[in-house]
Order: sequence, then C-alpha cells, then structure tokens
Amino acid sequence: MKALVTGATSGIGKAIAMNLHRRGWDLILTGRNEKVLRKLRKYFGGNTEIITADLSERKEVFKVYDFCKDKNIDLLVNNAGYGIFGKFHETDLENEISMIDLNITALHILTKLFLRDFRKRDSGYILNVASVAGFMTGALMSSYYASKNYVIRLSSAIYEELRREKSNIKITVLCPGPVNTDFNNRAGVDFSVKPVSAEYVAEYGLKKLFQGKFFALPSLSTKVCAFGQRFVPERILSAIVYNVQKAKL
Ligand SMILES: NC(=O)c1ccc[n+]([C@@H]2O[C@H](COP(=O)([O-])OP(=O)(O)OC[C@H]3O[C@@H](n4cnc5c(N)ncnc54)[C@H](OP(=O)(O)O)[C@@H]3O)[C@@H](O)[C@H]2O)c1
Repeated sequence: MKALVTGATSGIGKAIAMNLHRRGWDLILTGRNEKVLRKLRKYFGGNTEIITADLSERKEVFKVYDFCKDKNIDLLVNNAGYGIFGKFHETDLENEISMIDLNITALHILTKLFLRDFRKRDSGYILNVASVAGFMTGALMSSYYASKNYVIRLSSAIYEELRREKSNIKITVLCPGPVNTDFNNRAGVDFSVKPVSAEYVAEYGLKKLFQGKFFALPSLSTKVCAFGQRFVPERILSAIVYNVQKAKL
C-alpha cells in the first residue's frame, strides 16, 4: 500500500507519515523543505520517495500529481496548510491568497484528480485535514476558518456522493483542535488551550479513516465544539471565537 502525504516535513503530516510507516505503508512525501524531506527519506528508507513542491503554486500541485499518477497511490493525505492571525483589514493580502491556494485550491485539485483514479478501481482512501475551526466563523483568523469550512463541506459532499454509489472509496475529514506543532509559530500566536500531540491526532485520524468514518474529531473538546456549535446562535458563537482567538495574543 502506498500513500502520498502533503505537509510531511513537520507536525501532523510528519506524524501521519511515521504512523503509516509503522503500519508498513510505502510513502511519497512532499513539502517545500527539501533538506527535511531528504532526512525523512533516509530515516524511512525502503521505497520512500520525496518530491519538493510549493503547493500554493498551482503548477506545483499538478507536478506532484504527475509524479504520483502512475505509482498506484492508495491513500491521499491532504494535510499541508497554515493559518494567518489578525483583523481581516490588516492581514497581508498576498499571504492570505497563498494560504487560500494551499488550504483550499491544492486540496481541491488533488482530491479531484486522485478521486478520479480511485473511482477507476473502486478503491482508495482520502484523508483531508481540516480543523475544528471548520465548524465556525473565526474572527481574528477569518480566512483560515473559512478555508477549513470549505474543506469540511467539500469532503462531506464527496462522502455523500460515494455513499450513494456504494463506493469502496473512503473519505475522512480530520478536525483537530489545538495541536502541538509549528502551526502557531507560523501564525504568530500562542495556544489559548492545552494542545494535544501530533502523534495522537495522526493515530486517531488514521483509525477513523480505516474504519470508514467521515468525521475524525480527536479529543472531547473537538466533539463538543463540532456538535455543540449547532445549538449556539451564530452571533454568540462568533463572539466566543473572537475571545478565544484574542487570548492567543
Ligand atoms: N496545529 C494545530 O493546532 C492545528 C489544528 C487544526 C488543524 N491543523 C491543520 O493541520 C495541518 C498541518 O498543520 P501542522 O499543525 O502540522 O503545522 P506545521 O507543523 O506548520 O506543518 C505544516 C506543513 O505544511 C507544509 N506546508 C506549508 N506551506 C506549504 C506550501 N506552500 N506548500 C507545500 N507545503 C506547505 C509544511 O512543509 P514545508 O514548510 O516543508 O513546506 C509542513 O510540513 C494544517 O492543514 C493545519 O491547518 C493544525
């Protein structure tokens, strides 16, 4: 079995790669940091392949697909992503567009292209890494929250189409709360609640994927957020999120 993992150079993606390696999977790892990718290839050994790519560039997304398309990928892990903190009118536009290109466009393209391949043989797995942020509007992290809403909604629609076709293809959306990775460093904030480990999130996400479950909500607090938000009026939820985000400063 072979998996393509995006954002494999650190955090949740690296933990997913480690976990899959332990389960005996062959890996194709991607990220921008070639030095780290080379180290990982050496560490995993065997049939591990790497491809350096900036997935906020559309042509690089297609480059990764072209590299993989004849390699019989069984599992696509769309994990690469980052967040931007700040008031919407103050955050940098170019950075935000790059984030949207990575968090949404790259995931969208790879999901479609691999899904088409998986449908030809009626098998395959897709693990899309969203966030508990995808269930809410996110003042002070508006575009990031919106991008993760897209990931959940897109994945959910695909899940329903596959279910109606009685397809053997499995799609899972992984929605962690705070995880102890480089994510907050890049967003320039601190944690406002205690984070869980990337290893725990990886194990939980893969377990739910192989069980054929759509939602992977690691930790009790993410389950409470995901289901509880349905019963809270939008304005109140928005105010709560604002306060949680502000506490990160
Ligand atoms: N940490 C959290 O609290 C948390 C919570 C919920 C959801 N998530 C989601 O989990 C996913 C992984 O984040 P993480 O927490 O593991 O953060 P991380 O440690 O910063 O890892 C991000 C990964 O994405 C890759 N990446 C970033 N920009 C890229 C680009 N332009 N092109 C290709 N790869 C790129 C990075 O690799 P290179 O630097 O080598 O490119 C890195 O491997 C993200 O989608 C994030 O939204 C994180």
